[in-house]
Amino acid sequence: MLSSYMITDTNPFIYSHPLEPDDIIDRDGETQTLLKHAVGGHFVRLYAPRKYGKTSLIQRAMREGELQEGLIPVVVDLYRIVSWADVAVRFERAYSRALKGALRTKVEEFLQRTGLGLSLGAYGISAKLQLDQKAVDPLPALHALLDLPLRLEEGGGYRAFIALDEFQDVMKVPDLDGLLRSHIQYQGHVASYVFAGSEPGLMRQLFEDKDRPLYGSAVPMRLDRLQNQDIGEYMTARFKGTDRGVGEALNPLVTTAKGHPQRAMLLAHRLWEEVPKGDVATLEHWELAYESGLEELDAEFDARWRGLELSEQKTLRAVILGKGSPYKDDVLQLFDLNKATAQSALKRLQATADIEQDGTQQRVVDPLFAEWISRL
Ligand SMILES: Nc1ncnc2c1ncn2[C@@H]1O[C@H](COP(=O)(O)OP(=O)(O)O)[C@@H](O)[C@H]1O
Ligand SMILES: [Mg+2]
Repeated sequence: MLSSYMITDTNPFIYSHPLEPDDIIDRDGETQTLLKHAVGGHFVRLYAPRKYGKTSLIQRAMREGELQEGLIPVVVDLYRIVSWADVAVRFERAYSRALKGALRTKVEEFLQRTGLGLSLGAYGISAKLQLDQKAVDPLPALHALLDLPLRLEEGGGYRAFIALDEFQDVMKVPDLDGLLRSHIQYQGHVASYVFAGSEPGLMRQLFEDKDRPLYGSAVPMRLDRLQNQDIGEYMTARFKGTDRGVGEALNPLVTTAKGHPQRAMLLAHRLWEEVPKGDVATLEHWELAYESGLEELDAEFDARWRGLELSEQKTLRAVILGKGSPYKDDVLQLFDLNKATAQSALKRLQATADIEQDGTQQRVVDPLFAEWISRL
């Protein structure tokens, strides 16, 4: 009895992995926009800094695309791919997760007939590659996988809704964007693609550089911060739903999170941990939660900081100290930084979404990283 009682009192704020569709704050408009494009056969480039909810949004759009529009949802995770073989494995796994029933049987029969070592079952190309790198030639296998939307169409008039997540990593495999284009350019009638990525610099290169194969091939869609009000309503409801009150802690929490989706959830998670069942959160609870949140992130921030060049470190500090204006004379002087150096560092920090432009001001994307830096 005791254990089942304890299990019901679990923290409702998830911050370490993509959310289930029913757990996400807002994103109704974004979901509808994605679906509209998918149904219309348009390709979308979805971009936002890391941890803004791209993968969560994709999963929600996929679920609704399947339920409302009869699309076949396929999510391919391209995180840290480095070779054709990696890419083939990711596509094979994605279809293996996506297909069920008669359609799965049909596709499996097709894959077997190719004789390329592909399968939706346990002994597909990933298993074969593990046993023997030379057992399969990944390139023909990849060609076959990239053509699967055509097979789905033949198999019953299905339209595939395919998300290629962590798309910036396509840059790590030479000519992969060319190979992708050679297939998907003929698939507008059978498949809709979403390319999701978190590095604005790389995403822009892939889609806005005239010399690259995917130039101009997808509608850009930026995922923004969440609205304070949406965050507030969610926090209030979830505290209430677990027999707690968010009370006066809500204000500082929302102000500190600055609409950053993952940071809002992390802070809420920490706050919830401080508040006993049946109680209402106080400012003291909030202070403890905030400090423990920063402490939890210390190692991550430290690693990120060490990964930056000195000019980038100085520029981040200048942005913070200059309250969004890094080029003030006294600020530049303080960090022994010249304007040209700061400008080129700023460009790099924007390309990696560490800093973003906000009107005429610059701001550090992650509000907790900004706080950590300002305490250095
Ligand atoms: N719409 C949202 N509502 C609530 N939390 C969100 C939302 N979007 C993102 N998050 C938070 O951010 C975390 C990372 O989300 P994820 O979808 O993996 O982001 P991304 O793919 O952009 O890196 C989630 O665990 C959750 O805490
Ligand atoms: Mg993601």
